[in-house]
Amino acid sequence: MTPITTVRGIGVAVTRANIDTDVLIRINRLIEHSPDELGAYLFEPWRFLPDGQPDAEFPLNQPRHEGAVVLVAGENFGCGSSREHAVWALMSFGFRVVIAPSFGDIFRQNSFQNGLLTIALPADEIDRIATELDEAGEPMMTVDLEGQVVTTPAGRIVEFEIDPGRRRALLDGLDDIGVTLMYAPRIDVFEQADVQRRPWNYRTTDEERAMQLLILPGDGVGSEVMDGVKRVLAWLREDRDLDVDVHEEPFGMAAWRAHGTLMTDETWERIQSADAILFGAIGSPEYAQIPPEQRRVDWLLEMRRSLDLYENLRPVRAIDALLDASTLRPEVVRGVDMVIVRELAGGVYFGQPRGVETLPDGTRRAVNTIVYTTREVERIARSAFELARTRQGRVCSVDKANVLEFGAFWRETVQGIGDNEYPDVEISHMYVDNCAMQLVRDPRQFDVIVTENLFGDILSDCAAMVTGSLGMLPSASRGPVKADGRRAALYEPVHGSAPDIAGQGVANPIAAILSLAMCLRYTLDRVNDAVLVEQAVERAIVAGARTRDLTQPGSTFLSTSEMTDRVIAELHP
Ligand code: NAI
Ligand code: MG
Repeated sequence: MTPITTVRGIGVAVTRANIDTDVLIRINRLIEHSPDELGAYLFEPWRFLPDGQPDAEFPLNQPRHEGAVVLVAGENFGCGSSREHAVWALMSFGFRVVIAPSFGDIFRQNSFQNGLLTIALPADEIDRIATELDEAGEPMMTVDLEGQVVTTPAGRIVEFEIDPGRRRALLDGLDDIGVTLMYAPRIDVFEQADVQRRPWNYRTTDEERAMQLLILPGDGVGSEVMDGVKRVLAWLREDRDLDVDVHEEPFGMAAWRAHGTLMTDETWERIQSADAILFGAIGSPEYAQIPPEQRRVDWLLEMRRSLDLYENLRPVRAIDALLDASTLRPEVVRGVDMVIVRELAGGVYFGQPRGVETLPDGTRRAVNTIVYTTREVERIARSAFELARTRQGRVCSVDKANVLEFGAFWRETVQGIGDNEYPDVEISHMYVDNCAMQLVRDPRQFDVIVTENLFGDILSDCAAMVTGSLGMLPSASRGPVKADGRRAALYEPVHGSAPDIAGQGVANPIAAILSLAMCLRYTLDRVNDAVLVEQAVERAIVAGARTRDLTQPGSTFLSTSEMTDRVIAELHP
C-alpha cells in the first residue's frame, strides 16, 4: 500500500447525499474487470449519457477537475452494499482522499484497508469547500495527514480528527495485516509465554491432547458403582469419540491388599497430575486390620487438601418419576432444582488446633477449630455467584452468624463479594438450623446454597432425601485455576462406602454415573455428552428402572449392573 503523508492536487465536489456503492461502480463491472481497470467506470450512471458519451455537466468530466485527487462528497457517502470495488474504482480513477460529512461504515473500513484516506468534516464546511472549488481560479487543495489539516482552495486551514491507529497505518502504508505484522516481535513474546501458560492450545498430536482421567474405585460399594462408570465411559469413547486417557489405581483397602500401603508414590503422582479423578468411596471396617500409624492419614481428605479442592458442587434435582421414593410429600418435592456449593478445603475439618488431651484430673478435653480466611470465603462465594448466573440468579448463604464469630465474618464477606462483583445476583442469608428445617419444609425455595464445610456436609445429606436416595446424588470438587489454566478436579458420589450393603451388588450406580456427567461438563468440556448421560439416567428411571434404595421393601429391584445396563440402553442422542 502506498503511504499517505501529504496529498496536494485538484479537488472536485459531488455533494449529493447517500451516494451508494452501486453508483460508484455497477455490479456487472465487478466480474468483468480487474481492480485497476475500474476507474474507467467510476460514477458510470452519472458520468455518461444514455448514448455512452460523457455528460459534460458532471463535475468529474469538466476539464478544470481533470486529474482530481480529492473528492468532496455529501453525507453518508459509500452507503449501500459493502463492495470493496467502490474503493478500488475511486483509487484507480486517481482519488487519494474523500472528504464528506459522514460515510457508510463498511465503505470507510474498506477505504482504510486499501489506503484511501476518508476525512469527516461538518456539512457546512463541506458546502464552503464545494463553493471554493467552483470559484477558485484553480481548484487546488492540500490534505496533510501528518498535521491533520486540510488547506482549502481559498487557502483556509481546516483541522480534522482521525483515529490514531488508522492514521499511523496510512502514514506507514500498512493495511490490517501490515499493522499486525508490525507487532510481530511482541506477538512472539506473548506466544512464547502463552505456550507455558496454556500448553494444551499448542499440542498437536491426539496423544498429547488427550485428557488424563484417573479412576480410584476405593472401598465398599465404591468399586461396584465405579464399574458402572467405567462402562458408560467405554461407551462414550466408542460411540462418541471421547478422547481421554483412562488409568485406574487401587485405592483404600484395595491398595493395602495390592501393595501393603494405602498410598503408593506412583498413585500419588497420578493424583497430582490427573486432569480429573473419578472417585468411588472410602471407609471400611477392614481398616481395623491395618497398623494405626499406617492409617493415620485420611487419603480422601489429603487429596482434597493437596489439590486445594475448595469448591464442592452438589446438585439436587427432583425427578418426577421418583417422587414416591422420597419420604417427603410429592407436592413438597416436585420441581426442586438446587445446587449446594460447599466449601471443601477449610473450616473445622482442617483447622488447628485439634486433638484430644487428658486433663490433670484424668478427664479428657477434645478440640476442633473452625478457621476461615477472607480469601477462602471470597473464592467460594465467587463460585456460588458465578454458578447462580447460569441458573436462576439467587444465592442463599448459610451460616451461624448469631452465635459464631466466623459466622458473622462469613456473612459480611459473602455480602461484600455480592455487592461489589455480582450486583445482578440476589443474595439472602440463613442460619444453618433454619436452613435444615427449610430444606425439608420447602426445598423449592432454593437455587444456589453456599456454605462452609461442615454445614455443607450435613445439609447436603439432608437435601439428598428430596431425591429419595443418597444413591442419586453426584458431586464435583474443583481447585483454583492454576498457572497453566487447568483446575484439579475430583468427581464422586455424595454417598460413602455403604458397608451395610457392600459386596451384595445392590448399590445404586446413578450417583457415580451422574458424577461422570459432571466431569464431562466441567473438566472435559463435553456438555452435550453430559446432557446425554443425564437424560439416559432420567429415561431409565422414567421407564421404571429401580435399584433397591429406590423401592419399597418387598418390591423387586435391579442389581447395580442391571441398572447400568438400563442407563446404557438409553444412551442415544
Ligand atoms: P454412606 O453414604 O456410606 O451410607 C449411608 C446409607 O445410604 C446407608 O444405609 C447405605 O446403604 C445407603 N447408601 C449409600 N450409598 C448407596 C448407594 N449407592 N446405593 C444404595 N444405598 C446407598 O454413609 P455412612 O454409612 O455414614 O458411612 C459409611 C462409610 O463411608 C464410613 O466409613 C464413612 O466414613 C464413609 N464415607 C465416605 C464418604 C466418601 O467416600 N466421600 C462420604 C461419606 C461417608
Ligand atoms: Mg456426608
